[in-house]
Amino acid sequence: MALNKHTFYVTTPIYYVNDIPHIGHSYTTIAADVLARYKKAKGLEVFFLTGTDEHGQKIQKAAQICNKTPIEFVNTVVDKFKALWNDLCISNDDFIRTTDERHCRRVKRIFQQIFENGDIYLGEYEGWYCVPCESFWIESQLEENKCPECKRVVEKVKEKNYFFRLSKYKNHLLEYYDKHPDFIQPESRRNELLQRIKSQVEDISVSRSAVEWGIQVPMDPTHTIYVWIDALLNYITALGYDDDMQKFQKYWPASVHIIGKEILWFHGVIWPAILMSLKIDLPHKIFAHGWWTVEGQKISKSLGNAINPIHIIQSYGTDAYRYFLLREVPFGLDGNFSYHALIHRINSDLGNDLGNLLQRTLTMIEKYFHGVIPEVIDENDELKRESQITCDKIDQEINQLQFSRALEVIWEFIRRSNKFIEDKKPWSLAKTDITGPQLALVISSLAMAIRNISVFIYPFMPTTTVEIQRQLGILHDTCYPSLEFQQKFKKGTIVRKGKPLFPKIELTELKIASL
Ligand code: ME8
Ligand code: MG
Repeated sequence: MALNKHTFYVTTPIYYVNDIPHIGHSYTTIAADVLARYKKAKGLEVFFLTGTDEHGQKIQKAAQICNKTPIEFVNTVVDKFKALWNDLCISNDDFIRTTDERHCRRVKRIFQQIFENGDIYLGEYEGWYCVPCESFWIESQLEENKCPECKRVVEKVKEKNYFFRLSKYKNHLLEYYDKHPDFIQPESRRNELLQRIKSQVEDISVSRSAVEWGIQVPMDPTHTIYVWIDALLNYITALGYDDDMQKFQKYWPASVHIIGKEILWFHGVIWPAILMSLKIDLPHKIFAHGWWTVEGQKISKSLGNAINPIHIIQSYGTDAYRYFLLREVPFGLDGNFSYHALIHRINSDLGNDLGNLLQRTLTMIEKYFHGVIPEVIDENDELKRESQITCDKIDQEINQLQFSRALEVIWEFIRRSNKFIEDKKPWSLAKTDITGPQLALVISSLAMAIRNISVFIYPFMPTTTVEIQRQLGILHDTCYPSLEFQQKFKKGTIVRKGKPLFPKIELTELKIASL
């Protein structure tokens, strides 16, 4: 499995640029970032890809409404995505745009290959099309004449189209799912997919004659390539497939494609079938996470409740936002965003548990040891032992993309460290034993526990890691802290206590202006 290889390739969906990003988009990208940072910290060679999906009818329409050419329009929206990823500390290694020349060129070559393999043929499509989902539906799939996915109005389509022989791959796919039970996760989504593929798989339309804004079909310039085929291919065109194969050979197959649950059919069925046609190995894992609502409601343009993540991070900070999204909801399930829940997490988990642990410990180091971390090693250091156990548990959880559980494990250790202070009562030791070994052992053990915590939280809260390490006086130049356990601090390490990491937020300050 890729999870044990020395390279690690993780992707997000490439997002439509018909509108600016909202918390849903940021969620997937943050999750992928956590995985990428974690694997880099573990010493793997990581390739983390995100990007934008810029062709198709939906974008063409959005550009028209703004009185812009499609390319002018998408250029402005792409900048918003890039700026947000920058503000959210996203460490992607590449950003692919489907309008990139490298992508268009390779998509044409790949389409031609599939055609030459005999898997694309000209036919006639008659059915329904959902523009927001860019999906074809047959009559029997509609629900009350609406798109079964997003419940919006569909339009009737009758046009000559090129088709991909998806039906030919039905049995290969079923065999593959059977042999690779972890291929599609979570399990409940895998089962839904199996149900659907067993009940019907028809050949799919892979070109549009009525849509101009797209990549031309190489053997027929009157058609453009269906936007979903164009989009899925990004996962390999970004690696240079098939005219510059170095990265492809190094990183493919992808370790995991992280996506939202609504696009699992495209990733779990159509994408593997295309790869089979091209005789390329399939990705190791496709993980379909759940959907966020905002204050109980579906996020939608028409409801006007699509919160701009920039407003949240301006008020509450990037790390608090990253922490909240991954801690609040088990990865795979649906969740609800509310400002109350966010503030509660900041005050209790971040302020009370983590912030106080650092503040109390540094105060004691200043008070009892003139700011120098005492240099002693306790052979029987309980916190050190528990750090090791915590580290192993985090590894298990992150490998399964169970981010909320990884954070729970880290927070158990943070609370355990706070309890260590209550139990050992350094203030009593200080009265009786200020020069003796006991107090120094307790304090040095705590300082090391905090150092380890700073590393544990790194994939989730990279800026907080830096701030804790700065205050502890151990900030290293590297931006990827090692997960190896250090035995001790450098002799004479001087702490630099700073402001509280997460000052308490009064609920009355609740900023709902952006709602
Ligand atoms: O589907 N909750 O792009 P898209 C959680 N271009 N995640 C959400 C979400 C929500 N409410 N809303 C969006 C497309 N997402 C295609 C993908 S990939 C080859 C092409 C996230 O802009 C989630 O990851 O509609 C979802 O799958 C993705 O954004 C859809 O983004
Ligand atoms: Mg969508």
